[in-house]
Amino acid sequence: MSVVSLTVRCFALSTDGYGAGPSQDLQNPLGVRGPELMEWLFQARVWRTMHGEPGGDTGVDNEMAEHAFDGIGAWILGRNMFGPVRGPWPDESWKGWWGDEPPYHTPVFVLTHHPRKPLKMAGGTEFHFVTEGIHAALEQATAAAGGRDVRLGGGVATIRQYLRAALIDELHLAVRPVVLGAGEPLLTGIDLRALGYECAKHVWGERAMHVFLRKRA
Ligand SMILES: NC(=O)c1ccc[n+]([C@@H]2O[C@H](COP(=O)([O-])OP(=O)(O)OC[C@H]3O[C@@H](n4cnc5c(N)ncnc54)[C@H](OP(=O)(O)O)[C@@H]3O)[C@@H](O)[C@H]2O)c1
Repeated sequence: MSVVSLTVRCFALSTDGYGAGPSQDLQNPLGVRGPELMEWLFQARVWRTMHGEPGGDTGVDNEMAEHAFDGIGAWILGRNMFGPVRGPWPDESWKGWWGDEPPYHTPVFVLTHHPRKPLKMAGGTEFHFVTEGIHAALEQATAAAGGRDVRLGGGVATIRQYLRAALIDELHLAVRPVVLGAGEPLLTGIDLRALGYECAKHVWGERAMHVFLRKRA
């Protein structure tokens, strides 16, 4: 049986270290100015095709986006990435940002302090709401992944917890040449070196530099 890895792919980061802008809400899912983080993806052919738009870049950035879903058997998300609803769920009406058929097509484990029944969507995505913390979410996702990798989708607070616990095997950052000034900082206060991470590879894309951090063997 293959060894399951916990992997972060294509996580966009501003040059000043933010993974989301401030003031997330229904109008600003990535926070204010957050979309500047994602321009490398929004201009990629694979993204445009997914959204029914013609054209798009076909270089390195596109290749990164194209392979970001390869070999993934389950996902873990933080509750804020799942949606803008905060506190106890008022009802079951919020079903994620992605419409009836989310792009995951696997089980997805959403970390939250507020219990909720599992939610089955079209195309094989099933959201499970995990209230027992990051280790429980990882155990459940690993079991559900059927020997494939588990992808940690974000957001920032969730990745920070898994990094602090040194549970992430590979962290691919798409570092953008933009300055957000405020928002959710990804790495502030986290000593990656002490946790055993090093830059294993970097690749220049058209609109982002792709940096791969891995745990030293
Ligand atoms: N830069 C990128 O490529 C990228 C990728 C993905 C997402 N994002 C952005 O990141 C932002 C979201 O990040 P975020 O840092 O605000 O939040 P997040 O990590 O998505 O979610 C944090 C929330 O998840 C729940 N949670 C997290 N850890 C938990 C634990 N151990 N036990 C129980 N519940 C737990 C808590 O919600 P409750 O207590 O309310 O239940 C917590 O407030 C969004 O703007 C999203 O668009 C950016």
